[in-house]
Amino acid sequence: MSYPFQITSLEQYHKDYKKSVDDPEAFWSGVAENFQWKKKWDKVLEWNFKEPKVEWFRGGKMNITENCIDRHLSTMGDKPAIIWEPNNPEERTRVVTYNRLHKRVCQFAQVLKNNGVKKGDRVCIYMGMVPELAYAVLGCARIGAIHSVIFGGFSAQSIADRLDDAQAEYIITCDGAYRGSKDIPLKSVIDDALIGNKTVKRVIVYTRTRTPVSMLKGRDVWWEDEMEHAESQIEKEGVVSFPAEEMDAEDPLFILYTSGSTGKPKGVVHSCAGYMVWTTYSFVNVFQYNPGDIHFCTADIGWITGHSYIVYGPLSTGATSLMFEGIPTWPDAGRFWEIVDKHKVNILYTAPTAIRSLMGFGLEPLKGKDLSSLKILGTVGEPINEEAWHWYDENIGKKKCPVVDTWWQTETGGALISNLAGVTPSKPSWATLPLPGIQPVLVDENGKEASPNPAEVGALITAGNLCIKAPWPGILRTTWGDHERCRLNYFTAYENLYFTGDGALKDEQGNYRITGRVDDVLNVSGHRLGTAEVENAINMHAGVVESAVVGYPHDIKGQGIYAYVIFNSKHVDDELAKKDILQTVTRIIGAIARPDKIQFVSGLPKTRSGKIMRRILRKIAEGETENLGDISTLLDPGVVEEIKNGKL
Ligand code: PRX
Repeated sequence: MSYPFQITSLEQYHKDYKKSVDDPEAFWSGVAENFQWKKKWDKVLEWNFKEPKVEWFRGGKMNITENCIDRHLSTMGDKPAIIWEPNNPEERTRVVTYNRLHKRVCQFAQVLKNNGVKKGDRVCIYMGMVPELAYAVLGCARIGAIHSVIFGGFSAQSIADRLDDAQAEYIITCDGAYRGSKDIPLKSVIDDALIGNKTVKRVIVYTRTRTPVSMLKGRDVWWEDEMEHAESQIEKEGVVSFPAEEMDAEDPLFILYTSGSTGKPKGVVHSCAGYMVWTTYSFVNVFQYNPGDIHFCTADIGWITGHSYIVYGPLSTGATSLMFEGIPTWPDAGRFWEIVDKHKVNILYTAPTAIRSLMGFGLEPLKGKDLSSLKILGTVGEPINEEAWHWYDENIGKKKCPVVDTWWQTETGGALISNLAGVTPSKPSWATLPLPGIQPVLVDENGKEASPNPAEVGALITAGNLCIKAPWPGILRTTWGDHERCRLNYFTAYENLYFTGDGALKDEQGNYRITGRVDDVLNVSGHRLGTAEVENAINMHAGVVESAVVGYPHDIKGQGIYAYVIFNSKHVDDELAKKDILQTVTRIIGAIARPDKIQFVSGLPKTRSGKIMRRILRKIAEGETENLGDISTLLDPGVVEEIKNGKL
C-alpha cells in the first residue's frame, strides 16, 4: 500500500517535482487534503523573502495532535505508536499503542491545564529519552502551548538563557536521565538554571532515576501525582477525551534553539500546519514508509531530527516509531544492532558520527545479530565520507538497503535534499536531488548563480553557496522575539533567497553534495555550535584575555574544536589552565562544546581593523603550514610563525 502522496517511481518524482515548481499552490493543497482540518484554508501560500513573510494554508484550522493520534484510533488504536527501548538492556521495553498514546497525551494536556498553562504559553522541556517526553511534547501541542525542548546535554546557564529568551513560565523535567553508564541529574541542573529566574511558575518532574531531588513548595510538582489526578478528570464512563485546541495553521507549534555564527543561540520557530505537512510528506517519501514498518531514528528529541522523525512525521503517518533512551556504545558497541535484531527494525536513521564511531569497533559487535529486517538506512546531520557510507551499506545494509543521505537543518523542519529510498538513485556521500517543492540554487560570493567549473576533472561540477529560491511548507517562520534577526541571518546575504549557511557542489545530473558550513558554525558530532558561542564561553574564564575558535577535521566527530587562547601571563601550569577552561565551557554551554585542543598563544592574527583572521587559524589547525595566503597585511605577522610552531 502506498500513501496518497507517496512517490513510487523515478518518473513520478520528476513529474511531481515539476508540478510542485510550476504550480506550488495546487501541488501542496493536493498534499494537504490528506490531513485532518477543523476548517480548510482560504489561501495555500502567501510569501515574500524581503520581510520575510511566509504563510501556508492561511485561514486553516487544525491541531497537529489530532493528525498524529486521533485520526488513527479507529483503524490503528491497538498498533504500536512508540516502542521504547531503555538505556539498560536488562530493563523492560515499553510499547505505547495509539490508544495508549491518546490517553496519555489527553491526560497530560489536562495536567498542563490544571497547572495554568494556556494556548501560546512557552513550556520548556528538559527530559531524557523516555516516552513521557513524547507525551509532554504532544500534550503541549494539544492545548496549543509552545514547547521548547532543550537537549539534556546543555548546562544550567544555557537553559537559563533559553528560558529568559522564550520567557517560559513552565518546565517539564525528570529527576534524572540515564545515558550509557551515566545518570544525569536533570532536575538539579534545572534548579541551578532557575536561580534568579522570575518567570517560571511551575516545574513538573517525572521520576525516572530516583535520584534525590529538592522539590520547592509551591513551584515543583510530581508528574505522577498530577497524572493520577488528571486521569479521573478526562475519563468519564470509559471515554477518554481532552479536546484539542483549535490552532490557526500559522500559530507557532514550537521553538527550538540552534546556534548561528553570532551571539547566543536563536529560537527557530515552526508553525503548526506547514511543519506537519512537510514532516509527514518528507517522512513518507524519503523513507518510503510502509504501514507496519518499524522506524528507528537514533536522534535525541532535543534536536530537530527527533522532533521531525521520531515524533511528528512518523506519528502523523500512523507509523511505529522506535525511541531509544541510551547511546550506541553502552553496554557495548553492539547496542544498535541488538535493538535492530530485537525489534525487527525496518528503517534505521542515524548520524555519520555514530557510524564512524561504530566502524572503529570492527565487525565483532555485529556477530550474532540478525539485521535481516532492515530495508532502508539513512543518515543526517553532517557530510558522510565515502568510507563510512560504504561500511554502512555493506555491513549493516548488506548491500540490499538503499542508503538515504538526508540534508536539512533545524530551520527547514524536515529533509530538503535527499534520495528517496529505492526510488531515486543514491550516490555515496551525495545528498542527491531536492524533494518536490525545493528549488536549490548555488551562488557565488556576489550572489550570482554559480556556473560549472570546466577545470574540474571527470565531470562538470558547480560549486557555490547553497540557497533556496522559494518557501516550502516546513520553512522557519521567525526567530523567537526577534524577527529582524531571522531576516538578517537567512534572507539578507543574497536577495530574495533563503541562505542555508552551507557550501555545496552540483553535478551534471543535478545531484547535490553538501561540503559543510561556510559561516562560523561548527558541526561537532552532528551538534551545531557557533564559534562565537564557544569563544564567549572560553572568555568567561577569569584568566582568559582573548580566544579564537575554529573547526578542524576529526576522524569520528567530523569536526573537532580547536581553540587558540591568550591567557594572562601569571598562570604556571598549562595543563591545569586547560582543564579550568574546559570546566568553564562545560558550565556555560555544556560538555558538547568542550574544545578538543587548546593552544596557548601570545597573540592572534588580526587585520589592522582588529578582525581575527580565522581563515589562517583554520588552515593551521588543519595542518596546513605553507599556503596561508597573504599575511603581510596583518597587524603582527610574526604571531603566525609562533602559532604554527606551537600547533598541537
Ligand atoms: O551543515 C549542514 C549539516 O547540518 C547543518 C544543520 O544542522 P542542524 O540544524 O543541527 O540540523 C541537523 C539535522 C537536520 C546543515 O547546515 N547537515 C545536515 N544534514 C547533512 C548535513 N551536511 C551534509 N550532509 C547532510 N546530509
